[in-house]
Amino acid sequence: MPAASTFVRKLNEQVANEFAAHQQYVACAVYFDAKALPQLAGFFYRQALEERSHAMMMIRFLLDTGAEVTTPGVEAPRAGFCDVVEPVALALEQERRVSEQINELAATARDERNYPAEQFLQWFIAEQIEEVATMSDLLQVAERSRDHVAEIEGFLAREHPGGDGETDAGAPKAAGA
Ligand code: FEO
Repeated sequence: MPAASTFVRKLNEQVANEFAAHQQYVACAVYFDAKALPQLAGFFYRQALEERSHAMMMIRFLLDTGAEVTTPGVEAPRAGFCDVVEPVALALEQERRVSEQINELAATARDERNYPAEQFLQWFIAEQIEEVATMSDLLQVAERSRDHVAEIEGFLAREHPGGDGETDAGAPKAAGA
């Protein structure tokens, strides 16, 4: 196999970042689940699954383009939080970081004239705008209602009920799907 391009190396690193995001969201969900906050727990369990699916889409792309897949390990997530706002603030920080990573990947793809990679990343660029906006709204609600957690639960029940089996026809194919 030829030496991996910078893009392939960075996309493998991003697979690790997405799996790390999955683990972090599971840790957030578990924190809320243990506090009997089912809407917050459900929201983060669903976010976790989305992150796993982002990693699997990247693996599918690497496989389909004949690139090496390294299947990386990940660092342990943060699991202890002081209050209900902290996991949400951490999640927003994480989404902002991922947006920068995706933009950096897009820049590398363009530098290498890797047009299939550039096109592959378009979906992730749009997805990140949505995820940062969602987490930013939730953080505002959580900060406003930190002492009235039922209001945060009510907001999620109304705005992000889940269970609608959202399918995105334009989403890249995931490995194993
Ligand atoms: Fe896959 Fe929300 O980053």
